[in-house]
Amino acid sequence: MQVQKDSQVSKEAELFIRQYYAESGGSENELLLRLQEVLSEIDHTGSYKHTLEELTFGARVAWRNSNKCIGRLFWNSLTVMDARGLKTEDELFEAVFNHMRYATNGGRIRPTITIFEPVGQSGAQVRIWNHQLVRYAGYETPEGIVGDPASVAFTRVCMELGWAGEGSPHDVLPIVIQCGDRQPAWRAVPPELVLEVPIRHPELPGIAEMGVKWYAVPMISDMSLEIGGILYSAAPFNGWYMETEIGARNLADSGRYNLLPKVAELMNLSTQSNVTLWKDKALVELNVAVLHSFKSDGVSIVDHHTAAEQFIRFEQQEQDAGRQVTGNWAWLIPPVSPAATEIFHRSYTNDIVKPAYDYQRCPFHS
Ligand code: ARG
Repeated sequence: MQVQKDSQVSKEAELFIRQYYAESGGSENELLLRLQEVLSEIDHTGSYKHTLEELTFGARVAWRNSNKCIGRLFWNSLTVMDARGLKTEDELFEAVFNHMRYATNGGRIRPTITIFEPVGQSGAQVRIWNHQLVRYAGYETPEGIVGDPASVAFTRVCMELGWAGEGSPHDVLPIVIQCGDRQPAWRAVPPELVLEVPIRHPELPGIAEMGVKWYAVPMISDMSLEIGGILYSAAPFNGWYMETEIGARNLADSGRYNLLPKVAELMNLSTQSNVTLWKDKALVELNVAVLHSFKSDGVSIVDHHTAAEQFIRFEQQEQDAGRQVTGNWAWLIPPVSPAATEIFHRSYTNDIVKPAYDYQRCPFHS
């Protein structure tokens, strides 16, 4: 792992510290004092430690800068858990489980990030191997894939590490964490920490009979967070779901749970011809079912029309604050009825602005 040169860290650090003081209204004097402190720390150690306030600000602004995210109106309400300095596996798993409990909050989901030790001067890093803290296993069987096809490679890794699932379509995968060059460690997630929602439809009883469910909280755990030249390689974060993520992708994609043919069948739609628009009709009802189920269970979720309106408000808010909104149009438009939202009719520049979340290399052979 290539660690940034001191001069590069200093440059990024200075930009960030200046931004922090500009946005949080600190005095010029305070800014200069802090800058001096940070730059001399980098001189002596090659790195520096963010204050809790800087860390919180950085994580929130990285959300504000997430070009693919339609939910950015709420960037400033992110709860930041400081888990830097935790060293042992037991402590790390404990912090992960704490995050799950706090964020889930019985269904009133709280946008939360837990930030672990940043990448060190030697390149040593903490990595969570899971893509999300909760995800369903995928098993290759002679009869085809059971569970989530997106999890097949990681499920195999978990089994090699000694984990065994029941083989159901909804086995929650264990958490796998690696510290530096130590062996990866894994723990099963305590079931009481995994809130799930059985999917049913207000008018179509056949949907409930499919026995499909989804977990309540999407907690991305494989992305990095870069703030002021410091790279946090383990920083799991969550918001709440937009219904299309589940109803139009996870349950509908032919490479995922592939439920459209089943839903069409129980709606008595003819799947023989494309012109009946059976896929579209099935998609809409599946999305209605996801919203109905989460709402009935009191679990936070947003529909794509409301999310798009919130994003337009976010754009206005940013403009009023004198900031440029960047975005990735292809990700911002919802996969259901995109042209029925205002976002579709606007354009965005996909420039990377820091602080930022980013992808990182897959830590296991896949
Ligand atoms: N699309 C991913 C999923 O379906 C989750 C990505 C993050 N989503 C969110 N609403 N914060 O699991």
